[in-house]
Amino acid sequence: MGNPLTGAVLLVDDEPNNVHVLRDLLEEQWEVHAAYSGPEALGLLEEIRVDVVVADQRMPGMTGVELLEAVRQRHPDVAGIVLTGYADMQALESAINRAHAFRFLRKPWEAADILQALEQACAFVGQRRTIDRLVTLLARRSDELAASLSELQAQQQAMLHLERLGSIGRLSSGVAHDLRNVMVGLRAAEWELAQKELAPGLRQILEIGLNHIDNLLRTLQMLREYSRQGALEVRSDLCDPAAVVRDAVTLSRMDLTFRRRRVSAEVEPGLPVLRADRQKLVQVLLNLVRNALQASADDGEVVVRARLAGGQLELAVEDRGPGVSAELKARLFQPFVSGKGDEGLGMGLYMSRLIVDAHGGRIAAGDRPGGGARFEILLPLGSEVAAGAVHGGAG
Ligand SMILES: Nc1ncnc2c1ncn2[C@@H]1O[C@H](COP(=O)(O)OP(=O)(O)O)[C@@H](O)[C@H]1O
Ligand SMILES: [Mg+2]
Repeated sequence: MGNPLTGAVLLVDDEPNNVHVLRDLLEEQWEVHAAYSGPEALGLLEEIRVDVVVADQRMPGMTGVELLEAVRQRHPDVAGIVLTGYADMQALESAINRAHAFRFLRKPWEAADILQALEQACAFVGQRRTIDRLVTLLARRSDELAASLSELQAQQQAMLHLERLGSIGRLSSGVAHDLRNVMVGLRAAEWELAQKELAPGLRQILEIGLNHIDNLLRTLQMLREYSRQGALEVRSDLCDPAAVVRDAVTLSRMDLTFRRRRVSAEVEPGLPVLRADRQKLVQVLLNLVRNALQASADDGEVVVRARLAGGQLELAVEDRGPGVSAELKARLFQPFVSGKGDEGLGMGLYMSRLIVDAHGGRIAAGDRPGGGARFEILLPLGSEVAAGAVHGGAG
């Protein structure tokens, strides 16, 4: 940092003779400027930089204290010295505080007093400007520090994410293995029971249960795959969006907990067939519909929509629940984020995002106009096939 002082002083007095005498005294040590009224001094200060203003108190129009008050507002780094007769002292008291004058010198002044006051004022100004510069510098540094800190945090977050993924992978392998064993037994039981007379209700419960386990196994499989390869493999089936919606709605209706809640579908007719991983897309919609059902009141309604929007396939799930809480909104698609306490694993939306990402699409949470939540998926139709071209593939 260079010298913070300019070495310049501004003298302000309406009597040219006083200015003349002071100038003679100070000229050797300082660069001396002069003004003959308060307003003139303020004008001059717009053009030149000085360290100290030495002003006479009694001037027509604007007193010395008034001038220093104005200087303090516009140039807070400049010190002020007021020269004043003994008679003014009492009336000055309150003005002194406002003007923050560095010193008041009684007239007639002694040369030594003025020189000393000026030297001290300059030292004070020098210190103040140095501190100001340091503060500015520190503020900039702390901005830089904050930036590198948040970068570090982001890196740490990414590492944590990878580590968690590793644990998820190991955990899901173990659980999937056990579940598959259970499943073998259950499938055998199902086969046995198929030969027997059963109450229709019982058969339905068994079917729904097996369906759920299948679903769970698929999710676990996906998690393991993702944690191993860092990416999801998606098949490129030809699939009819209407069929994807229909499957998700049908599966969601199997959940007996939500028997009274309605799930309906509104699918634009004639949607093009698209290339996508049908099973995984159904999984995504099912996740969204299940969340929507959970967020809904007992007689609530969930609507699944499919339509073309700007050359892409738009799938949306809307409910009339309380909507996504502001606190969760930003982290919704991260793993282990759940607003359901112990009831939720917080993996549904995370998995959904992975699947949609793998399709080159986008998923977002928003508000349903009129209340509730609206989750929206946009899928590119890059390699779509004309509507109706494929039947078998979509079935
Ligand atoms: N339709 C919705 N309305 C309100 N909140 C929702 C909705 N869907 C998801 N959420 C919030 O997002 C959280 C994360 O959802 P998800 O990833 O599926 O995990 P989980 O359902 O296991 O909690 C939920 O716990 C819930 O708080
Ligand atoms: Mg969920």
